Amino acid sequence: MGPGRGHTVVTPVIGVVAMAADHVDDVMRIDAAVYAHPWSRALWDRELADSSHVHLVAADGGAIVGHAGVMYVLDEVHVTTVAVVPECQGTGIASKLLVALLDSAVAAGSTAATLEVRAAGRRAQRVYSRLGFVPVGVRRGYYRDPADDGIVMWLFDLRSHDTRERFDRVEADTRPEVAL
Ligand SMILES: CC(C)(COP(=O)(O)OP(=O)(O)OC[C@H]1O[C@@H](n2cnc3c(N)ncnc32)[C@H](O)[C@@H]1OP(=O)(O)O)[C@@H](O)C(=O)NCCC(=O)NCCS
Repeated sequence: MGPGRGHTVVTPVIGVVAMAADHVDDVMRIDAAVYAHPWSRALWDRELADSSHVHLVAADGGAIVGHAGVMYVLDEVHVTTVAVVPECQGTGIASKLLVALLDSAVAAGSTAATLEVRAAGRRAQRVYSRLGFVPVGVRRGYYRDPADDGIVMWLFDLRSHDTRERFDRVEADTRPEVAL
């Protein structure tokens, strides 16, 4: 018997865990679906071996549905890549991954975060803006296939009370329960 009106259905919880070598095939499959120039296997091997890089995957039950990574540079953290399988986009997975990465950056002592995003990547820019990133500059012609400018965004006050509240709001908005 299905749930009645007013009941809460809990969808499979999206788990976020550190990326490991046996996630590489799934992550490469996601990237092949969303990027014109996905990272090579050699680059993934370097990513996993580099202690200044942290990479997380999102798992829906057994399936890897998204991934995101950062690189630590002094007291800054740089978001290197974020991708979610097309059929699971718009459900909060990228936001959840980014909050987890930025929370651990705060815990590790980072004071600011930065990233670069395609000028045409409006959805990605909205995700970043909700977390407190602001556009600070443009790298003309930075991307190819298709050609595009790179927007440089910064979150300058990673450790502030406002930022904490933003992260909490984003997390609350992207919780996996669905009320019927
Ligand atoms: C950009 C990208 C990573 C975003 O991933 P995502 O998981 O879809 O992002 P989120 O779900 O956190 O947020 C996307 C939208 O879903 C909405 N959303 C999130 N959780 C939701 C929920 N529980 N209910 C309803 N809507 C929700 C967000 O508000 C946001 O809405 P908006 O597009 O109107 O601003 C994804 O589209 C992607 O992989 N794109 C291709 C690769 C790429 O461009 N990466 C960025 C490189 S810089």
